[in-house]
Amino acid sequence: MEPKESCWVATRPPTAEAKPLTSFGLRVDVAVIGGGLVGLTAALLLARAGRAVAVIESRRAGRQVTGGSTAKVTSQHGAVYRQLVEGFGESGARIYAESNQAALDWIAREVAERQLECDFERRAAYVWTEDPARVADLEREAETAFRLGLPASFERQAPLPWPVAGAVRFDAQAQFHPVRWTEALAADLVARGGALYEETRVIDVEEGKPCRVVTERGLLHADDVIVATNLPILDRGGFFGKAFPQRHMALAGPIDEAKAPEGMFIGLDQPTRSIRTAPLDGGGRMLVLVGEAFPTGHGDAAASERRLEEFARTRLGLTDIRWRWGNQDYYAADRVPYVGRILPGERRIRVATGFNAWGITTGTVAAMILADDILGRRNPWAPLYDSLRIKPGVGGRAMLGKNLHVARTWLEDRISRPATQAADLAAGQGGVVRHGGETVAAWRDPQGALHLVSHVCTHMGCHLRWNAAELSWDCPCHGSRFDVDGRVVQGPAVRDLERKA
Ligand SMILES: Cc1cc2nc3c(=O)[nH]c(=O)nc-3n(C[C@H](O)[C@H](O)[C@H](O)COP(=O)(O)OP(=O)(O)OC[C@H]3O[C@@H](n4cnc5c(N)ncnc54)[C@H](O)[C@@H]3O)c2cc1C
Ligand code: FES
Repeated sequence: MEPKESCWVATRPPTAEAKPLTSFGLRVDVAVIGGGLVGLTAALLLARAGRAVAVIESRRAGRQVTGGSTAKVTSQHGAVYRQLVEGFGESGARIYAESNQAALDWIAREVAERQLECDFERRAAYVWTEDPARVADLEREAETAFRLGLPASFERQAPLPWPVAGAVRFDAQAQFHPVRWTEALAADLVARGGALYEETRVIDVEEGKPCRVVTERGLLHADDVIVATNLPILDRGGFFGKAFPQRHMALAGPIDEAKAPEGMFIGLDQPTRSIRTAPLDGGGRMLVLVGEAFPTGHGDAAASERRLEEFARTRLGLTDIRWRWGNQDYYAADRVPYVGRILPGERRIRVATGFNAWGITTGTVAAMILADDILGRRNPWAPLYDSLRIKPGVGGRAMLGKNLHVARTWLEDRISRPATQAADLAAGQGGVVRHGGETVAAWRDPQGALHLVSHVCTHMGCHLRWNAAELSWDCPCHGSRFDVDGRVVQGPAVRDLERKA
């Protein structure tokens, strides 16, 4: 079976064994749930301020959404600034611009001062269109971004091996190796006395003095808790109804250095293509390419991967595809992440989600806001990102539509009954089928053995869909994913699927 790891995860295997939580009833100032970029950055900032911090990570740190990203470090988030001005006014859009530039600057400073080896490279970032009818949109986007203080300009050309109709260029942006970056964050955290417990899944958190963090390996007490699990694993707060999972297929492989495009690129036209290059271990460069977004559990991941491969071959001359993977992030209905309290009445539990696939910078911003809040420092960006904001006019219709769709999916699944029997599945095939008089999720491995698990998501009971490109069971409601033996790969679910005989 082909490995489905990102080029970053595959080229940087963990150098040490995971250290799970072993002591019961440990007491810390702050428990951070989730060891991705957001959790590790927040934990490090708090440890630097003298707080006793523990990060609790269900898998290995830095290797999930962060480790599968394109890892552009930029305030250019597609063509977003006109939309932000519309939704949040000039002042809100300016705060978004300023905070994301500040996150880029902070990362650049860390790399320089600590001489971190994370393949940090300065590059210009481009949003391009090949459609003459959209050039005016990009001209206005460039004007808006420039007015907001960003290093933006409109260009008639972009350094891509095909002609463009126009592009917005942001100068002095950057890219890095996301796994090396999170390793550097974790190393500094531990050097400052912070703890990183990996392979320790958190099941629940109860607010209190102190808060109780319930893990599958024991209990931990903390004055404050940050839930940095990409989408909060805690349902109260309803973030699963405000941020929506979008999956992308990605691939990477060596490219002729002389032909490597000099910059970072994202297309305005559909299907979206995101392009960058990176140093290849052992010399030379590789191309990293990410495809269009589709809702988790709904799109055809295998078809999306095939289209991406065709683009890579015909447009960029990529023939040796060494890594293929999928990855997803949650998109906030109004394009601004939710950062802050989980509920108005729960002052000690904080969350961050809805990074719109730009969380290398927005996630760093989120970590800064949450750390400042716990340290009692005023953060001027916090009101824009407020997790409890109510802005029904902005993105409200999209949010309603998505939640109605979830409700419809839930109902339809309950009345439909699959026609296929498990016995009919060929080697390598998976699907929701009938077996022994009940409906189950089944996959027949290449050796012919059946892997049977419940087809009901342990989060809120939606029926899972087979993802043939990644061999996983994906939930069409809020994006939980499970492997062929039912283990949680990605939340919000915290419980594995029931195994079926
Ligand atoms: C295809 C793609 C490309 C992207 N490219 C870019 C880019 O170029 N630039 C950019 O700025 N952003 C990009 N992003 C977005 C960015 O990668 C994410 O927004 C960011 O990495 C999210 O970080 P995180 O810490 O929230 O998530 P993660 O890195 O997933 O960290 C969350 C952690 O929580 C852990 N966890 C989950 N449940 C539990 C539990 N119950 N107990 C304990 N731990 C738990 C997970 O195992 C995980 O390690 C991209 C995203 C995608 C999908
Ligand atoms: S992720 Fe919510 S029901 Fe599956």
